[in-house]
Amino acid sequence: MENVVVSMGGSIIAPETIDPVHVGAIAGMLKRVCEQVKVYVIVGGGRTARKYIDAARELCADEAALDTLGICATRLNAMLLITAIGEKAFSQVPESVSEAAGIGRNRRRIVVMGGTTPGHSTDYVGAELASILEDARFVNATNVDYVYTRDPKKHADAERLEELTIDRLIEINGGTAWNSAGANAVMDGPACALIKRHRIPTSVVNGSDMETLENVILGKPFKGTKIIV
Ligand code: UTP
Repeated sequence: MENVVVSMGGSIIAPETIDPVHVGAIAGMLKRVCEQVKVYVIVGGGRTARKYIDAARELCADEAALDTLGICATRLNAMLLITAIGEKAFSQVPESVSEAAGIGRNRRRIVVMGGTTPGHSTDYVGAELASILEDARFVNATNVDYVYTRDPKKHADAERLEELTIDRLIEINGGTAWNSAGANAVMDGPACALIKRHRIPTSVVNGSDMETLENVILGKPFKGTKIIV
């Protein structure tokens, strides 16, 4: 079975309030596609992570401690998705990409995880997992329909890109450093660097659009951006 790693932005699973109907729809879609492809989902921290990090920043300045809280939030969101999927998902949240890969190889289950170590994002974790699996595709399910040349909310002349090279994406982001990406970057710099180094076939889609998400996971034509590596 083909390996597909999906980085599911926290804003998709846990926006301001968690919508059980929406989480249930994502789980239902994953249960359908897992009959045809081996799915690994990395869930982001979204609003939950932000809330805890903001509160803790006023109590403590240690960035690693704040990241650890963020990781806890991603794992909480991962557990919510596991609960929604039920028995077609592995019942626990792996804590490293090697653990996730091992579980995926040995069990016919959807593997759902969150962050791993302080200092990076769940997009990075997804790219890292895709890099150690054989012939994996990577899907970044985020909250925009396409990658744009600039922030479309701020610039009327922003162009939507249905296809672009990874080098162009890095250029749009302003580099591959953790802090180089603008706040609206759909994929952070270190994740882009991994995609480039391992030549991981990558797509960016709106994770709230179930039809699009299902199509891209199954390798069918989809609405979104294809990143050429
Ligand atoms: P996310 O990757 O979800 O960041 O992790 P995000 O910017 O909130 O992305 P969305 O909104 O979910 O798409 C939340 C926070 O958890 C920490 C970081 O502090 C990150 O900002 N984290 C996450 C880590 O330190 N390591 C990880 O492996 C994952």
